[in-house]
Amino acid sequence: MTEDQKQAYKEKYLRAKHNGEHFFPDTIYKDLIVAFAIFLLLVGLALFVGVASEPRADPSDTSYVPRPEWYFLFLFEMLKFFPGNLEWLGTTIIPAAAVLALLLLPFFDRNPARHWKKRKFALGFMGIVVLGMVALTVRAAVTTPVQQESTVATTVAEKIAAGQDLYSVQCVECHGAEGEGGVVSGVEGLEGVTIKAIHTQDEMYTRNDDTLFNIVDYGQPNLGMPPFGKGYGGELSRSDIEYIVTFMRYSWDDRAELPKEAAQASAIPALGPDEIPSYDTHIAPLVKRYCVSCHRSGKENNNYLMTSYDQVMNSGDHEPNIVPGDLNSNLIRMLHREDIEAGGPMPPTKALKPEYIQLFERWIKAGAPQTTTK
Ligand code: HEC
Ligand code: HEC
Repeated sequence: MTEDQKQAYKEKYLRAKHNGEHFFPDTIYKDLIVAFAIFLLLVGLALFVGVASEPRADPSDTSYVPRPEWYFLFLFEMLKFFPGNLEWLGTTIIPAAAVLALLLLPFFDRNPARHWKKRKFALGFMGIVVLGMVALTVRAAVTTPVQQESTVATTVAEKIAAGQDLYSVQCVECHGAEGEGGVVSGVEGLEGVTIKAIHTQDEMYTRNDDTLFNIVDYGQPNLGMPPFGKGYGGELSRSDIEYIVTFMRYSWDDRAELPKEAAQASAIPALGPDEIPSYDTHIAPLVKRYCVSCHRSGKENNNYLMTSYDQVMNSGDHEPNIVPGDLNSNLIRMLHREDIEAGGPMPPTKALKPEYIQLFERWIKAGAPQTTTK
């Protein structure tokens, strides 16, 4: 810069200083207003929108993939380029150098010009850095495996409902829909074995929640019950197991007083004499409790999956298993324990209660609707 230019800048600066605003209090005042507005916005978001909570932290869960927030993902992704003992380069040296460079910027970038045309190098360099950050963030997002969804239940009713669902999927095939036990059928290694009832006073009065929790967590491998806790190679998190124990306690222990709001959560809704049953309200809870343990993917079931309305209506090797209006549908005949081409009695171990079979019949007679709107 020539002396003239310097002089010109200095005059410009003095003029601006003379006419212009003061940093204190003018600029500070504006900053405060904006900061306050953002603060209010944050308070509003926290109060009215909130953040969904994750399941409780579980030190024994080896499948949890910790992830930073999205705005730090690029740093996280960068670490993949510094494996093993080079890690310190990615975690310490590079971020520290970048921060230091920003701090020292006023000392090495002495270019007084402000127009972008005169700052091509600085802008170009910063542009490349920003592009790199965006690219790393995108790469991280694309390669992140989808975190397995877990239910987070807070009220007793929610815990019982979540526990019921988990019990139906994980435990029914051995222990029966009501914990009644009996002769196991269709479970590899335990075919024909008789399992004692676990819903009895004997069981419920002598096992506290911690004991039940541990039984599910480690299983009873010497008796044929596999471990379910993630820490022991199973697929249930600690909160999952807690929900199952809550479900068992409130369903089978006659000393446990169910909080009123939770009373309907685990019950199959009753049907008025003229009411038309619907899949969503009546059939889905029945199916969940008595059929889904076997009729889901990965089990032997003639490819008849029962985890959604569509599957219940349209899957299976002997599809259709439900013909709306027809009480000779496979499903009804099998509930009545007939042996037909599609298979034997359903559920294989023990007949459904007559009122539940009736519920299925009334539903199919009414055309097997998914919902009933009145
Ligand atoms: C593969 C079959 C199988 C599955 C699945 C299974 N269990 Fe078991 N469970 C057993 C066997 C076998 C025993 C031993 C029962 C016996 O001695 O008759 C047992 C015992 C139990 C006991 C009683 C232990 C005691 O001594 O008091 C409880 C409670 C229990 N299981 C709960 C569960 C729960 C909850 C689930 C679902 C998360 C589950 N089980 C899944 C096979 C299974
Ligand atoms: C213990 C496991 C188990 C349970 C519980 C169970 N099923 Fe099944 N289901 C099977 C198996 C296995 C088959 C294959 C046929 C056979 O082996 O009898 C089957 C076949 C069927 C079929 C014929 C599917 C086709 O297209 O061939 C229907 C319908 C059916 N089940 C209905 C039900 C209903 C309704 C329930 C609940 C009330 C139920 N099942 C509960 C194991 C089960």
